[in-house]
Amino acid sequence: MSDIDELKTHLLTAIEASAALDALEAVRVEALGKQGRVTQLLKTMGAMSPEERQANGPAIHGLREAVTNAIAARKAVLEQIALDAQLAGEALDMTLPVDVPAAGTVHPVAQVMDELAEIFADLGFAVATGPEIEDDWHNFGALNIPETHPARAMQDTFYIAKPEGAADDAAPMVLRTHTSPVQIRTMVEVARRHAGAGSAGGAPIRIIAPGRVYRSDWDATHTPMFHQVEGLVIDKGITLAHLKWTLETFLRAFFERDDVVLRLRPSYFPFTEPSAEVDVGFSVEKGKRVIGGDEGWMEVLGSGMVHPRVIAACGLDPDEWQGFAFGCGIDRLAMLKYGIDDLRPVFEADVRWLKHYGFAALDVPTLSGGVGTAA
Ligand code: PHE
Repeated sequence: MSDIDELKTHLLTAIEASAALDALEAVRVEALGKQGRVTQLLKTMGAMSPEERQANGPAIHGLREAVTNAIAARKAVLEQIALDAQLAGEALDMTLPVDVPAAGTVHPVAQVMDELAEIFADLGFAVATGPEIEDDWHNFGALNIPETHPARAMQDTFYIAKPEGAADDAAPMVLRTHTSPVQIRTMVEVARRHAGAGSAGGAPIRIIAPGRVYRSDWDATHTPMFHQVEGLVIDKGITLAHLKWTLETFLRAFFERDDVVLRLRPSYFPFTEPSAEVDVGFSVEKGKRVIGGDEGWMEVLGSGMVHPRVIAACGLDPDEWQGFAFGCGIDRLAMLKYGIDDLRPVFEADVRWLKHYGFAALDVPTLSGGVGTAA
């Protein structure tokens, strides 16, 4: 083997064997650096006779090319290995649970809405919604509250200014004063489908409608915007007993106590007949009122059997369909359950208040997990 071949084998082996970029660089310097062995060989060609050069030139140039190419190839391989190692080292496993708690919290009112949806879904109720800017008919007229009815004054209504050019007799729009217009929208929609599908379509209806409502009111127990949940059941042969059982089941699940007792007091709403105001019993433990028992009573909701006139106004036959409805203040439910004693901070968006009363973002209430015990 000639010296050149020997050198070539030596260098190519060293290149292949270099395990890191700095080792490869050392080989490069040894071969191609200023004092490198290949560089030295190339220099010897200057002193050669033309014949010697012809004889040795190709082998020397071939050596340089082979070494240069081998270094480039090995460099590419080592760089790729280094990159792979870096990527593997910096990789984040997105499937790993984070142990940093989320900074935000779920507002108690939002939490209670989730709890309501969970409890009522278990009883076969769907969640329905409607607009917060309502027309007079859905908010009042269809609910058997004619224009002259004192109930309109009872609920201090925010009226929306009529748009310019609107007809003088155009029905005014209002910020809905209660969630009851969602009853109307649901029944109208069902009656429409009913008409198309014969008696197989339409009712029965089982919905709850949680959402914002508005009344011109502002003191320690009233805010101009607050939250209600409406409940509506329409079917055949529905009685007050169904209403009472549903409310009892709901409130026992919500307050997570079996000793929740209800008291139904005769009352009046234009859209229900008969109407009942519902009180829930409380007892006093260590000087604090807690729901359960019957040492005292707190009013929690309004309810009744849907007035036949309301059912008819929506296009359903009141001789065929009956039902019950109830309306309940969500903010009050949240205050009672989570020991909040002033209503106003509930809507002030103070981060310190939210930190104290809020719920962890990932604690979704479930019936199996206990609705709302994960405070
Ligand atoms: N809409 C009534 C209110 O806001 C509550 C209610 C709803 C009463 C349904 C009876 C039936 O006061």
